[in-house]
Amino acid sequence: QAASIPADRVPDMEKRKLMNLLLLGAIGLPTTGMLLPYTYFFVPPGSGGSGGGTPAKDALGNDIIATEWLKTHGPGDRTLSQGLKGDPTYLVVENDRTLATYGINAVCTHLGCVVPWNKAENKFMCPCHGSQYNNQGKVVRGPAPLSLALAHADLDDGKVVFVPWVETDFRTGEAPWWS
Ligand code: FES
Repeated sequence: QAASIPADRVPDMEKRKLMNLLLLGAIGLPTTGMLLPYTYFFVPPGSGGSGGGTPAKDALGNDIIATEWLKTHGPGDRTLSQGLKGDPTYLVVENDRTLATYGINAVCTHLGCVVPWNKAENKFMCPCHGSQYNNQGKVVRGPAPLSLALAHADLDDGKVVFVPWVETDFRTGEAPWWS
């Protein structure tokens, strides 16, 4: 009359545990699967920066950290980054080794070539039809009808972010033609 568990019951217990585990898994997977979109919905894109704006990207597509950038880009430097709407946009290093608070859109206002920076001439010079812009992107020679567009280059948590420039163009004192 001993209430001992027969040896052949043990594997059944194990099986039942396994079934329970599988069942839990079957319920658990869809639940976590449904939680993910929910979580993403509440996490703002761009890892929660407060200032908004579009992160500037370097040639490799990485976010640009201002202090890192300034280690390799000296005074007077103008180097292309990826700006608003993907437009190639120059980041400007001022003579005091700080980043300028504006970026210069490199798209020529004549027919849209990307305008290279000519350090020796201290100008942006378009190879397509010879338009020239001064070192702030103000047009100084046609056929380009307008100066290069501006964007604000702000800092958000050390990263450079571009914000649309809707204020007066400081180079011309006129309303921005691009906004
Ligand atoms: Fe630049 Fe024509 S596209 S001068």
